[in-house]
Amino acid sequence: MTSNSIEATYEEMREKLEKIVPEFELRHKAELVYEIRKLKEERGAVILGHNYMEPALYHFIPDFRGDSFELSRLASETDKDPIVFCGVIFMAETAKILSPQKTVLIPSTEAGCSLAASITGEDVRLLKKLYPGVPVVTYVNTYADVKAETDICCTSSNAVAVVNSLDTDTVIFLPDEYLAKNVAKETGRHIVFPVKDPNGLKKPDTDLEYAMVGWEGKCEVHEQFTVEDIENVRKQFPDVFVLAHPECSPDVVQASDFSGSTSAMIRQVEETSAPRYLLLTECSMGDNIVAENPEKELLRLCSHRCPHMNQITLEQTLDSLKHNQHVVEIPEEIRIRAKRAVDRMLEIT
Ligand code: 13P
Ligand code: SF4
Repeated sequence: MTSNSIEATYEEMREKLEKIVPEFELRHKAELVYEIRKLKEERGAVILGHNYMEPALYHFIPDFRGDSFELSRLASETDKDPIVFCGVIFMAETAKILSPQKTVLIPSTEAGCSLAASITGEDVRLLKKLYPGVPVVTYVNTYADVKAETDICCTSSNAVAVVNSLDTDTVIFLPDEYLAKNVAKETGRHIVFPVKDPNGLKKPDTDLEYAMVGWEGKCEVHEQFTVEDIENVRKQFPDVFVLAHPECSPDVVQASDFSGSTSAMIRQVEETSAPRYLLLTECSMGDNIVAENPEKELLRLCSHRCPHMNQITLEQTLDSLKHNQHVVEIPEEIRIRAKRAVDRMLEIT
C-alpha cells in the first residue's frame, strides 16, 4: 500500500531512512517518490531495482529488487508494460532480450559497466576461432552482441553451477578476469589467457586440459579492494565479518569470510549475527541493509562507488516514466541468439 500524499510519503520514508538521509533531502525525495509512484500506476509500469540503487530509490520505488539473476528472472515473468529498469544498461538489455514485446526503459544512457565495455561480439568470434568447439560462458555483465555469440550466460549467483552443467573439461569464460579465476578455483580448473598481438589473438603455450580460458575484463569498483584493506580493518576490528563480491580478486575473496552475489551478501548479513560486517562491494548496499536492519553494524569502504549505477537517480526515473525514455532496442537477429544463452541459464538454475 503506497501513501496517498506527499506528506504521507515523507512520513513513510522517514520511518526507514531518518538515520541515513538528512531531513531536507528526504523532503525533496518524498516529492519525487510520490510523483514516480503515481505515474507508475497511471502507466501500468513495473519498476525493477538493482541492490546497488541509492537508499531512497531502492526502498521506495521498485516493485521488485534483487541481484542480476533475480531481476532477469522477474523480467521474464512480469506481465506489466513498460518495464523501467533501475540498474545498468546490460541489465535493461537482458530484460528486453526476454520480453521483446514490451517497452523496456533505462533512466540514463550513461549507466554503462566497465566489464560490459571490455569485450565485443567480434572478440568472442575470434576466441571461438582460436578454440573451436569449446563452450562459451558469458557473464550477464555484457551487451547483447556478446551474449549472442555465447552458449550460456551466468551471473555471480550461479557461475559455478553453470560451468558444472557443461559436459566439458575446458570452458571459455568471459569477460571478468577475477570472476573467472574465482570460478576456476572452485571448479578445479587452471586459468589461461589468450595473448593479444597485432594480428589478433594467440593461444598461450599452456596445456589446455581442464582449463578455463579467460579475458582480462575487470569491474572498476571491485578491482580496487585489496587484501591490505581487509588486514587494516581486521586490525582495528578483529571480530569483523568480511563479505566480498566474486568480482573481487581471488586474493581478496580468499581473505574474506564469505563471497556471493549482491543478494547472497544481503541474506548472509541478515541471517547471521556477527558484531560487525565489512562489505566489499558498491557502498550504497551497506546503507540499504542498515535501513532495513538498524541493529546491524556495517563498515563500508565508500571511496569506491559505481559511477554507472549512480547515474540512476529519482529525477531520471521520473523523467523516464514521463517521457518514455530511454527505450532499449536490440536488433532482432541478435536478440534471438542472445535469448538462447539467457534462457539456458534460467533453465539450469
Ligand atoms: P550481482 O549479480 O551480484 O547483483 O552483481 C551485479 C554487479 O554488477 C556487481 O557489480
Ligand atoms: Fe559494472 Fe562493476 Fe558497476 Fe557492477 S559495480 S555495474 S560490474 S562497473
